[in-house]
This record gives sequence, C-alpha cells and structure tokens, in this order.
Amino acid sequence: MLSKRSLVGVPLKFHTLALLFFLFLGGQVFAADPAVSDSEEAISAGKSVFNANCKTCHKLDQKAVGPALRGITDRRSIEWAKSFIKNSQAVIASGDEYANNLYAEYNNLMMPQHEFLSDADLDNLLAYIEYGDKVDPAAEAAAAAAAGGEAGAGGGGIPTQYLTIIIVVLVIVLFLILVVLGLIISILTKYVNKQDLDETDKEFVSQKFEFGKVFKSDAFIIIVTALVVALVAKTAIDGLYTVGVQQGYAPTQPIAYSHALHAGTLEIECQYCHTGVEIGKSANIPSANICMNCHMHVQNVQGQDGISPEIQKIYDAIDNNQPIEWVRIHNLPDLAYFNHSQHVKVGGIECQTCHGPIQEMEVVYQYSSLTMGWCIDCHRQTEINAQGNEYYDKLVQLHSDSKDALKVKDIGGLECAKCHY
Ligand code: HEC
Ligand code: HEC
Ligand code: HEC
Ligand code: HEC
Ligand code: HEC
Ligand code: HEC
Repeated sequence: MLSKRSLVGVPLKFHTLALLFFLFLGGQVFAADPAVSDSEEAISAGKSVFNANCKTCHKLDQKAVGPALRGITDRRSIEWAKSFIKNSQAVIASGDEYANNLYAEYNNLMMPQHEFLSDADLDNLLAYIEYGDKVDPAAEAAAAAAAGGEAGAGGGGIPTQYLTIIIVVLVIVLFLILVVLGLIISILTKYVNKQDLDETDKEFVSQKFEFGKVFKSDAFIIIVTALVVALVAKTAIDGLYTVGVQQGYAPTQPIAYSHALHAGTLEIECQYCHTGVEIGKSANIPSANICMNCHMHVQNVQGQDGISPEIQKIYDAIDNNQPIEWVRIHNLPDLAYFNHSQHVKVGGIECQTCHGPIQEMEVVYQYSSLTMGWCIDCHRQTEINAQGNEYYDKLVQLHSDSKDALKVKDIGGLECAKCHY
C-alpha cells in the first residue's frame, strides 16, 4: 500500500498536471478555426469558383467594386467569412458591427447571395483567396514596364511624326546634291573649255539645257501620263475603300456611362455586359437590367450624397419600361457580314486589337477604320489560332509542307462571299 502510494503519490500529481497541460493545449488546437488549406487542388478549385462568382467585383490584392479579399481570414474568423459569402445581408441584418461598417463604406452595395456554394466550395474559395495568385512585386513591375514598352512601340513601324522629319531631311539632302552637281558641271565646263577642242565637241560642251525639248519628248509624255493614271486610280480605290468611314466617331450618349470607370477602374469584364461576344455574331449592348445588378444599390460615386442624375436615368428607363437609347458607334453596311464569336472565341483576338483601349475611354470612339481594306489586311497577316482546335488539325497538317504559317487568307479569309451576303 505504502509503496503504491509512494509510487503513485508524486507521479500522480505530475500526471495530472501533464494531462491538464495537454488537454489545455489540445483544447487550444481544436477550439481554433481549422486552418485554411494551402493544397494545390484546393487553390485551383477555389480559383474556378472565384472566377465564376466573385471576379466581377473582387480582386485579391486590390480594391475593385468590393474590397480586396486577401487576408480576410486574418481580419475575420473563417466561420464569419463563410456566412458572409453565403449571405452577407443576413450577417449585416444580425447587427454585426464590422459587416455594417463595411456595407456603409461600400455605399450599401449589396453583395449577391451564394447559398448554393457547398462547404467544400467555400473552403476552396478561402484557400484561393489566402494563397492563390500571389503577385511578386518585382515581376509585376517588369510586366508593367514590358507592357509600357509594347504600348510605346504599338502600331508597328515608324510613327508619322518621324516620317515627316525623315522626308524633310531627304528633300534637303536631294537639294544639296543638286547644288553640288551644278557646281561640278560649271567647274568641268570651264576646265573643258580651256582645252583644245574641235567644233563639234565645243558645241556639245557649251550646249544649253532646253526644257522645251524635254517637255516635248515621247519619254516625258509617257511617264507623266502613267503617273497621272496611277494617281487617279489610287484615289479612286482609296475612295471606294473609305466610303462611309467613321473612324474616330464618338457621339454623346444618353447616359454619361464611362468605360474608363467600369471596365478600367472597376475592371468589370467586357463579357459581363457584352454578353454576345463569345456566342454570336453581335456583341450586344447591355440592357438596363444588367446595370441594375449593381445600380440597384450603387446610387452615386463614392463620397457623394444623394442619387446621381446619371444613375437616375437608369431607374427612369426601368420605371418607364423604355430601353436606354444608346447611340450606335460601330456600324458596318448591311452588305458586310462580321461575326464576333468567330474572331473573339475562335480567333482568340483581343477586343482592344479592333476597338482600341476601351478601358481608358470616358466616351467610346471608333478606333479602327472598319473598311474592307482593314479586314483584309488583318486576314493577310494574322495566323490562324489553331491551338486546341481539332477542326484545324487537318488543315495545319495539310499545310505543314509550306514554309509560311497558316494565315486567315489560307482558309478563305479573302473570299468575297465569306464577308458579303
Ligand atoms: C456584385 C458584386 C459582388 C460580388 C459578385 C461578390 N462580392 Fe463580395 N463584396 C462586395 C461588396 C460591395 C462588399 C463590401 C460589403 C458590402 O457592401 O456588402 C463585399 C464584401 C466581401 C467580403 C468581406 C470583405 C472584407 O474585407 O471584410 C468577402 C469575404 C467577400 N465579399 C467575398 C466574396 C466572394 C467569395 C464572392 C464570390 C463567391 C463575392 N464576394 C462576390 C461585392 C461583391
Ligand atoms: C458595365 C457594362 C459594360 C462593360 C463592363 C463594358 N461595356 Fe462596352 N458598352 C457598354 C454600354 C452601356 C455601351 C453603349 C454606350 C457607349 O457607347 O458608351 C457600350 C459600348 C461599347 C462599344 C461601342 C458599341 C457601339 O455602339 O458600336 C464597344 C466597342 C465596347 N463597348 C467595348 C467594350 C469593351 C472592349 C469592354 C471591356 C474592356 C467593354 N465594352 C466593357 C457597357 C459596358
Ligand atoms: C458590377 C457592377 C456595376 C455594373 C454592372 C454597372 N455599374 Fe455603373 N457603377 C458601379 C460602381 C461601383 C460605380 C461607382 C464608382 C465609384 O464610386 O467611384 C458606378 C458608377 C456609375 C456612374 C457614375 C455616376 C456618377 O454620378 O458619376 C454611371 C453613370 C454608371 N455607373 C452607369 C452605369 C450603366 C449605364 C451601367 C449599365 C450599362 C452600369 N453603370 C453598370 C458599378 C457598376
Ligand atoms: C476583329 C475585330 C473585332 C474584335 C476582336 C472585336 N470586335 Fe467588336 N466590333 C467589330 C466590328 C467590325 C463591329 C461592327 C459590327 C457591325 O456593325 O455589324 C463591332 C461592334 C461591336 C459592338 C457594337 C454592337 C455590335 O455587336 O455590333 C460592341 C459592343 C463590340 N463590338 C464589343 C466588342 C467586345 C466587348 C469585344 C471583345 C470581347 C470585341 N468587340 C471584339 C470588330 C471587332
Ligand atoms: C485583327 C485581325 C482581324 C480583323 C481586323 C478582321 N478579322 Fe476576320 N478573321 C480574323 C481571324 C484571325 C480569323 C480566323 C478565325 C478562325 O480561326 O476561324 C478571321 C475570320 C473571318 C471570317 C471567316 C473566314 C473563313 O474562311 O472562315 C470572316 C467572314 C471574317 N473574318 C470577316 C471579317 C470582316 C468582315 C472584318 C472587317 C469588318 C474582319 N473579319 C476583320 C482576324 C481579323
Ligand atoms: C474580310 C472581309 C471582306 C472580304 C473578303 C471582301 N470584302 Fe468587300 N467589303 C467588306 C467590308 C467590311 C465592306 C464595307 C466597308 C465600308 O463600309 O467602308 C466592304 C465593301 C465592299 C464594297 C463597297 C460597297 C460600298 O457600298 O462601298 C465592294 C464593291 C466590295 N466590298 C466588293 C468586294 C469584292 C468584289 C470582294 C472579293 C474580291 C470583297 N469585297 C471581299 C469586307 C470584305
């Protein structure tokens, strides 16, 4: 008995302490939120959920329509984040102070509900928000520099202002050459005249240059006629190519809607509003309903009071059941057929290639000429985007013995009937 007591006595205390200690530690571990997963699968699954549901309004490291999301699980608990994502209005209605402040800060812009997201979806989302697409500042700066360089060199070839300078310099050089030639002629004539020459040679040396003769010569007449014919033909063809060209056309729109704000600053994707670009011929101008997804709640620019008169116009359109009468900017004549999905989805061409830097435009203007020559030039130069397109595999194979890459012209991009009904 004694021995048992002594055996157990001290160690019992020790055991109890140790047990309590471990229980305490364990409690800490288990009571804390389960950490956000950093597995590759979770991050990439989260990215697709994010792109499908959140990207319109959120970025990870920058404020967009909604706040920058990275670090949300440091600011709030995982449980809070999940319930807010599922139904932010419920969290706000519960009187949560943080949520109410945030809501006010964002102009009472209601974030949509995401009740349909499963718990696994939410876990993946948080994994992506925490660990996905980390930007390395150095790499980003380099990319920005590269983009800047590209923009500087954009348009290709020599900028027009340099062309003018080059032409002026060339003219001056030509003039100088003429002067020098004249000097050489007069020196040579003087020198030759000092020699003993027979009559015919003398006559030859001292002959005057007669313009009259030149004008009457057959060669001159032929050259001039050819030049005039070429010029007239060129103007006529240019004229044909540019009938109805409206490059630079920028009409005033009924609502002061800004692409620089929505597509630039807020980085809303083009497809969010121009829903047709990937599926059909026409890009579509959004109806007022699409504006209302956000403007039901955003009534003015941050920091202003009351409802913006421009946004009021969207409400009026909805109330009166009248479409907003946007003025059409790009407009091909009926005889031409142009299909957006063919160029954007199949061809993989960026909107900006044809429409210019829309995301910087306060008011949209027509950036390209939209002439037949413009379409054809691009079809001559642009390679087919055959990657991942089985339809083209065979064509590319057939074409593989030719040296040039497969261009749009090679699949019939220059055939009249492809573009004309
Ligand atoms: C229509 C725009 C919109 C969409 C889509 C949207 N959000 Fe939000 N989100 C907001 C706004 C605005 C806020 C600021 C709070 C408010 O106004 O309700 C916000 C706030 C949040 C917050 C709190 C941020 C913080 O710093 O506390 C989280 C987390 C969040 N959103 C996650 C998501 C996730 C995840 C998705 C996609 C499943 C999503 N949101 C989709 C607009 C949006
Ligand atoms: C929030 C909605 C929205 C987003 C996002 C948006 N647009 Fe627009 N876009 C409009 C509206 C509304 C118009 C008609 C009014 C106007 O011309 O400004 C328009 C007009 C245009 C036009 C001229 C159409 C015509 O009449 O010929 C082009 C081109 C265009 N958008 C391209 C883009 C591109 C490219 C992007 C992405 C970088 C983009 N848009 C993003 C709403 C949007
Ligand atoms: C994804 C959300 C979203 C969509 C869709 C959207 N907007 Fe906006 N818009 C905003 C936000 C956010 C602001 C306020 C930006 C700020 O606070 O600086 C705003 C600002 C504006 C303003 C500026 C108001 C002022 O007083 O200067 C106008 C005008 C406007 N939007 C028109 C439209 C029209 C028209 C459409 C539909 C073609 C549209 N918006 C679609 C989010 C959206
Ligand atoms: C290959 C050149 C090209 C590309 C790339 C292109 N567009 Fe267009 N876009 C045009 C032409 C040409 C028209 C005039 C079409 C017409 O009048 O039938 C047009 C017209 C439009 C219009 C006016 C409405 C309509 O459908 O006629 C909008 C809006 C538009 N484009 C948006 C976009 C967006 C957004 C993208 C990128 C996702 C894009 N475009 C990519 C050439 C292009
Ligand atoms: C920036 C370059 C570019 C411009 C500008 C452009 N296209 Fe295209 N176009 C393409 C590419 C690339 C394809 C091939 C897409 C594919 O892989 O099917 C194409 C394909 C086509 C086709 C289908 C050809 C075929 O044989 O299947 C038609 C029709 C067409 N374009 C019409 C036009 C018209 C009309 C215009 C001018 C209003 C135009 N395109 C301007 C790049 C351009
Ligand atoms: C890649 C597309 C494309 C191809 C291929 C093409 N065209 Fe065109 N064509 C156009 C477009 C776009 C216009 C409208 C240009 C404008 O409005 O300035 C046009 C305009 C014209 C016009 C002028 C009509 C007018 O009202 O000014 C004639 C004529 C014409 N095309 C004939 C032809 C013939 C003939 C061929 C075949 C050798 C041909 N096109 C091939 C796209 C094309």
